[in-house]
Amino acid sequence: EADLYILYKGMYVPNYFHTVQSLKYCEEFSFRPDDVLITTYPKSGTTWTKEIVPLILSGGDPASVETLPNLDRTPWLEETQACKLNLEDRSSPRILTTHLLYHWLPPSFFEVKPKVIYVMRNPKDVFTSAFHFFGMCGHLVSPSSQTDFLHKFLNRKVAYGSWFDHVKSWLNAEDKLQMIIIYEEIIMDLKNLVTRIAKFLGKPLQAEIIENLTDRCPFNNMKKNKMSNYSTLEIMDQTKSEFLRKGIVGDWKNQITTAEVEYFDHIYKEKMKDVNYKFIWD
Ligand code: PPS
Repeated sequence: EADLYILYKGMYVPNYFHTVQSLKYCEEFSFRPDDVLITTYPKSGTTWTKEIVPLILSGGDPASVETLPNLDRTPWLEETQACKLNLEDRSSPRILTTHLLYHWLPPSFFEVKPKVIYVMRNPKDVFTSAFHFFGMCGHLVSPSSQTDFLHKFLNRKVAYGSWFDHVKSWLNAEDKLQMIIIYEEIIMDLKNLVTRIAKFLGKPLQAEIIENLTDRCPFNNMKKNKMSNYSTLEIMDQTKSEFLRKGIVGDWKNQITTAEVEYFDHIYKEKMKDVNYKFIWD
């Protein structure tokens, strides 16, 4: 861990993408009221959302996702890339991304309250996706075994910390923000979801445009967009596992053993006992 990660507020973050300066940049960032913030625990559907939001806000213009890599188009505020992009000079609406917890955002966020899209996925599918991802990324500690990685994942010992901390912190913010929560509909009900996000962003679109966007963003089509599939990022060895791997709901059933599911459910129950929210997977 020591070589690859830095510890930020008790959470590991990979030093390939983060420095003390980049994290400070995020802490001091000035939000505008018309910014749109995509917030996720990793492997929950961030990349899909980074595709659809620019398309919606541009009224379906393909250039919005074909001219800039998604790291530049919708930068993670806490990453080194963000400091280099002169976001201060970008025209509105800016689309930003974060994996941080709600209460770690800078003071300006709480003052101006920009719109937030929170993407949340079944933690067992998140785990499954993460297991493959950590195995193919040079900037992350590779799992020594699946069970060991499961223990680390459930006990805050992986990069980006705990799924539980993340979900609890953002669900807690739901009443205080203009926030939409999306999850499995990315795979199950794309058209409805695109319509819902467009409405939330105050950008209702004609049926034909919604149709085009819905056709463009399913898994197999998104895989083809070089600006979105991270094929240019050498730190990821996509011969081991593709970034856009399977894109399905419930792949955990092919991955997690019965004993591991029992342990998972035990920890889940314990950590979520104070959460009053109807999750799609419960
Ligand atoms: S990251 O590293 O946080 O940016 O990863 P993130 O994008 O949140 O999660 C990656 C998983 O999302 C799947 N994905 C999709 N599923 C369905 N449709 C589309 N268009 C899509 N795009 C990305 C991706 O395949 C990863 O999940 P797994 O289960 O590994 O396939």
